[in-house]
Amino acid sequence: MLIAPSILAADFLHLDKDVELVNRHADIFHLDVMDGIFVPNISFGFPVVEAIALKAEKPLDVHLMIVEPWKYAERFAKAGASMISFHYEAALDKSQELISSIQALGVKAGIVINPDCPVEKVFPCLETADFVLIMSVFAGFGGQKFIPDSLDRIKAVRAQIRKIGRDIPIEVDGGVGPDNAGELAKAGASILVAGSSVFKAPDPAEAIFLMKNARLR
Ligand code: DX5
Ligand code: ZN
Repeated sequence: MLIAPSILAADFLHLDKDVELVNRHADIFHLDVMDGIFVPNISFGFPVVEAIALKAEKPLDVHLMIVEPWKYAERFAKAGASMISFHYEAALDKSQELISSIQALGVKAGIVINPDCPVEKVFPCLETADFVLIMSVFAGFGGQKFIPDSLDRIKAVRAQIRKIGRDIPIEVDGGVGPDNAGELAKAGASILVAGSSVFKAPDPAEAIFLMKNARLR
């Protein structure tokens, strides 16, 4: 199990400290980019991603919660992303083309779905995407409660990936922590995004450790 702490919940006055935590204890930097249009919230953009890239010793995973994601994928690749995901709801019939153009930048391409999007919608994208991100809360804010239905959605996507003879990672994002990491692993998740449960924990390294080893517990 790979753990991707979400920098949205980090301490922005002392980002160096939280970047160091991810470098030492986790696997991936999860960076949530919000435009105030696709989601009713605004987070951060290029300057923050570039600053983190300078210190990061782990891959940068940029989760685009923006409209017209094709307009900015290349700039996030240049800013240092090695994984870029965009919402199916934002790209619709342009999704497959966008997956290819992200891959042409030398970056792994991921397709994201919100909890109200039928999983079947992204089945065609599973043929070529490098990973899929299943939202277990509605995109837009950290600190929300995990939606239990997400487990069945993960199972359905895992079954489809198997059916087409592929083995791509399923990333899960929203309300994830040591308490549900075990179930998520069993359902077929391979990358856990965690904001509050890492950065608001009394011992963030311990929280990461518990999630990483969830399958064994
Ligand atoms: C929500 C973001 C998440 C968020 C997760 O739209 O995509 O990555 O930071 O935060 P927690 O782990 O607190 O639910
Ligand atoms: Zn995210």
